[in-house]
Amino acid sequence: MKKTIAVLPGDGIGPEIMAQATGVLDAVAGKFSHEFEYRYADVGAAAIDRTGNPYPDKTHEICMTSDSVLFGAIGDPKYDNDPKAKVRPEQGLLKMRKALGLYANIRPVKPYASLLEASPLKNGIVAGADFVVVRELTGGMYFGEPRGRNEAGDKAFDTCVYSKAEIERVTDVAFAYASRRKGHVTLVDKANVLATSRLWRETVKEIHAAKYPDMQLDFLFVDNAAMKMVSNPRDFDVILTENMFGDILSDLAGVINGSIGLLPSASTGVDRSLYEPIHGSFPQGAGRNIANPIAMILSAAMMIEDAFGAMEEGALVRRACDAAVAQGVCTPDIVKDSPYGTKETGKFIIDYIKNA
Ligand code: IPM
Ligand code: MN
Repeated sequence: MKKTIAVLPGDGIGPEIMAQATGVLDAVAGKFSHEFEYRYADVGAAAIDRTGNPYPDKTHEICMTSDSVLFGAIGDPKYDNDPKAKVRPEQGLLKMRKALGLYANIRPVKPYASLLEASPLKNGIVAGADFVVVRELTGGMYFGEPRGRNEAGDKAFDTCVYSKAEIERVTDVAFAYASRRKGHVTLVDKANVLATSRLWRETVKEIHAAKYPDMQLDFLFVDNAAMKMVSNPRDFDVILTENMFGDILSDLAGVINGSIGLLPSASTGVDRSLYEPIHGSFPQGAGRNIANPIAMILSAAMMIEDAFGAMEEGALVRRACDAAVAQGVCTPDIVKDSPYGTKETGKFIIDYIKNA
């Protein structure tokens, strides 16, 4: 097959981990006689420095005209510490999600057998956990209007808005995932407090009754869900939730795996899908060859499976990542005082694919 891929390395460790992911894709292309054409584009602080815009039109055009989008990370501390900054790198990510219509973010969580000891949680709790967080990505408090400050500047407000249509489409994604898994969806909300959550509950119940009556549906308040996620993670199959709760819970889910550096994600949308690690730009790690490239590489694996239908290829990339973790050829987030950095971990995975 021949595919074009928009490659957006972004900020911080983004370029370093992306280099490993494209190396892995090259190895896959070589082995299976595919052709992947990378079309690089700027996003985030890197794009602000170059163009003043964190998601330039040119980047959008490249995303829209490619078969898929691979994205690294966004964020730069020089903006975090400046609350008055007019443009922020994160705006680029949000603009991109909105412009590409990426309404569902899929974050699978499954601990590696060899890493059960790496989780700060007891082995007996995390062993056997296997769930997916389906996070709504283009609504809620991230995008609701009005937002901002009053004139005096001593009051700030954000608005959480959801329409029924926005809830319906991501609910379908969650049930579609559940149908390929254990058939169990848990809606996480705050329906005891929030009007939007009550609309979520009502809508999800309706869709369940009308379209997926054979599947199991239950509900948890987000505070309780956070507790259950680290005390009984095996109870979950598919967690469906709104944007902000999904953001928070999916970082928490990283604890189950032993490192957030291992968790990939797929954002499916109206026209395009985008694949990105769930971790951020880890600016303290930039340029130090210490960032774990596996979340980025597994995001590329999700891309070739979901967007290109290359299942055998994706499975091989997963096996290569499993082998790296199992053999301890991995970055210091996994192996304390590891002699292996970003490049060495990537090279092991690339060689594994070549030699398979
Ligand atoms: C994520 C990130 C982003 C988010 C930030 C960088 C805006 O934390 O992808 O989870 O909050 O969605
Ligand atoms: Mn996040």
